[in-house]
Amino acid sequence: MLYLIGLGLSYKSDITVRGLEAIKRCDRVYLEHYTSILMAASKEELEEFYGKPVILADRELVESCSEEIIRNSDKENVAFLVVGDPFGATTHTDLVLRAKKQNTPVEIIHNASVMNAVGSCGLQLYNFGQTISMVFFTDNWRPDSWYDKILENRKIGLHTLVLLDIKVKEQSIENMARGRLIYEPPRYMSISECCEQLLEIEEKRNTQAYTADTPVVAISRLGSATQTFKSGTIEELATYDSGEPLHSLVILGRQCHELEIEYLLEFCDDRDRFKQDVLKDQQFFKPAPWVPPQEE
Ligand SMILES: C[S@@+](CC[C@H](N)C(=O)[O-])C[C@H]1O[C@@H](n2cnc3c(N)ncnc32)[C@H](O)[C@@H]1O
Repeated sequence: MLYLIGLGLSYKSDITVRGLEAIKRCDRVYLEHYTSILMAASKEELEEFYGKPVILADRELVESCSEEIIRNSDKENVAFLVVGDPFGATTHTDLVLRAKKQNTPVEIIHNASVMNAVGSCGLQLYNFGQTISMVFFTDNWRPDSWYDKILENRKIGLHTLVLLDIKVKEQSIENMARGRLIYEPPRYMSISECCEQLLEIEEKRNTQAYTADTPVVAISRLGSATQTFKSGTIEELATYDSGEPLHSLVILGRQCHELEIEYLLEFCDDRDRFKQDVLKDQQFFKPAPWVPPQEE
């Protein structure tokens, strides 16, 4: 059996009882180690908690050598652990399809994900549109296809969840070119870096999918002891120190219920100004009032 098991957001004990029982039955345990991190537990702490070794699975192992993970899983039990939920903003469908092709039974054990826990900032999950990923810009690679998705969401008044890039076990271009297996230290995008990139692309596109004054909420270390929310405009949060990872950002849409606004007021510096910013921003993409057709 191949088990895909969600670990939840932060603590080793966030795993479900069913997930833990499955791990106890497993001969090999892999921890997917490139799309997210378990903030409050190290590999060693997990090994002690599960009572068995944990193999870190980087992108290379999962995407290019997945046969290794599913090796013998028709006879043995293998666990593939994913921080959050196995299908929450990470698609491990490829691994599942490969396992099924070799007639290995697969069981998915779900858990909380950033995709649903984001609701604890006060914004309603019903009011979210497409999620986007913000990658680290480099000198010559500054992708901005996500901008169109924000525009689409904002046109119909929906909030946009922005997931921030993390780079774990990445090689520099030079080391890659020379075939040297030397890895850069891990990097996690901060809220200010994300807001700066948002502002840069708005300036370049200049179609006001959002503006420097558009309200956003920063969500840091969700589900951990130091979970923090901060609301303000994109410009304000471009200088915000968000602290340790992990971070996500939500760009507000026009369809913002009064209760949602009231909740966000708890996290801003100046309540009156933030409320004004929200009201001003709600004028963007506001549909014209409906006028019934004239009778002939
Ligand atoms: C590719 S997604 C993987 C999501 C994960 N599978 C889940 O279900 O939660 C990873 C990104 O989600 C966001 N994220 C994940 N956990 C978070 C947390 N606890 N607090 C804030 N942001 C988080 C970060 O932007 C991070 O870079």
